[in-house]
Amino acid sequence: MPTSYDVIIIGAGAAGLMCAATAGYRGRRVLVIEHARRPGRKILMSGGGRCNFTNLNSTPANFLSDNPGFCISALKRYTPDHFLELVERHGIEHEEKAAGQLFCQDSSREIVDLLMTEAQWAGVEVMTRTTVETVATQNGGYTLSTSAGQFHSQALVVACGGLSIPTMGATGFGYELARQFGLPVIPTQAGLVPFTLTPNLKTQLAPLAGISCPVAVSCNGEQFREPMLVTHKGLSGPAMLQISSFWRPGEALTIDLLPDRDAAQWLADQRQQHPNRGIGRALSEALPKRFAQAFADLQGWQEPLQHFSKSELASTAETLNDWQLTPAGTEGYRTAEVTLGGVDTQALSSKTMEVHDRPGLFFIGEVVDVTGHLGGHNFQWAWASGVAAGQAV
Ligand code: FDA
Repeated sequence: MPTSYDVIIIGAGAAGLMCAATAGYRGRRVLVIEHARRPGRKILMSGGGRCNFTNLNSTPANFLSDNPGFCISALKRYTPDHFLELVERHGIEHEEKAAGQLFCQDSSREIVDLLMTEAQWAGVEVMTRTTVETVATQNGGYTLSTSAGQFHSQALVVACGGLSIPTMGATGFGYELARQFGLPVIPTQAGLVPFTLTPNLKTQLAPLAGISCPVAVSCNGEQFREPMLVTHKGLSGPAMLQISSFWRPGEALTIDLLPDRDAAQWLADQRQQHPNRGIGRALSEALPKRFAQAFADLQGWQEPLQHFSKSELASTAETLNDWQLTPAGTEGYRTAEVTLGGVDTQALSSKTMEVHDRPGLFFIGEVVDVTGHLGGHNFQWAWASGVAAGQAV
């Protein structure tokens, strides 16, 4: 006979643990099954080890989905302030790094400890190193065959996360289950991920590796004004990670290296004031010095400004304000922070995350087609969708 629970949750990540504690406090008998050795591994590595656990300015506009209105209900009912209140109740020191982005002052471990403590107080059982092999419907509920035997529950919550960072335990199991139960899955793609470059461009940009500079990058009607970092492999930094979620293979990025200036007017002024200056020297007043010089070398801008013709100045200005760069690709799921796409939200209740025509089956967190911008929004979705399901199971 399988061991019985009211609720079984697959995945002890951010969403699964939040859901488990919420359901446990409601008196439900809850089991969380996790195939990794430890719970919350992605939380541990998040935010550079200090977990950007929420964003005070999070709104539905910070999320991508085929169905943009889906996330509104859950995000409205469980807000960044609710999670912040929980963090403060656990005495976790935190700081606001960029506008609204809250990080642990000490370590991401504190967030995992918070979730595990809440789960324990709520009477939840967490079983690690256990792989779910199959799920079948039985007696109006769900029977799971696992490496540790059979378990049965009335409600099953799928909180398996996405495909990013397979070495951290990511699997496509959540999508497989969705398909098994006839749910559509929006095609997945790596998001918040660094770009790779063609060999030629990589060699050209190599002298800029390690340099970060503030840019405005655009693609497909979206723009982010954040730092760009040139790496030995390609382009990263917040600007590139953000825009990667909107980019599709083969498309060009438009990078504005002087987002506060009209480059044509600025170059004309520079030429008038410093006719003997090279562009690299002139640019170093607006951009990090090493970047300015190396970028000018890369473009072959060696002559003093006074030697530039009107049309040469115009095309230089265009490069500065509208640098067109086509990446070779991205680093893919190996380093992506999130997975775009996932379980089609049309199949779920936005209030409870339950599948419309499958009573007792829920999908939460990253496995669902809701993906946040960089900056704490993805955890906010994990908390909010976890609570929404935890209140309903
Ligand atoms: P999550 O992936 O956390 O959990 C899923 C769990 O299910 C995992 O523990 C996995 O092992 C388990 N699992 C998978 N298949 C299973 C199976 N078949 N059987 C049993 N268990 C299974 N976001 C943010 O807001 N702020 C930040 O600072 C960061 N930083 C960051 C850094 C890096 C490097 C990454 C990769 C990601 C981030 N993120 C982030 C994104 C954030 O980590 C992510 O959105 C959430 O962890 C998603 O939570 P989930 O619970 O949905 O999945």
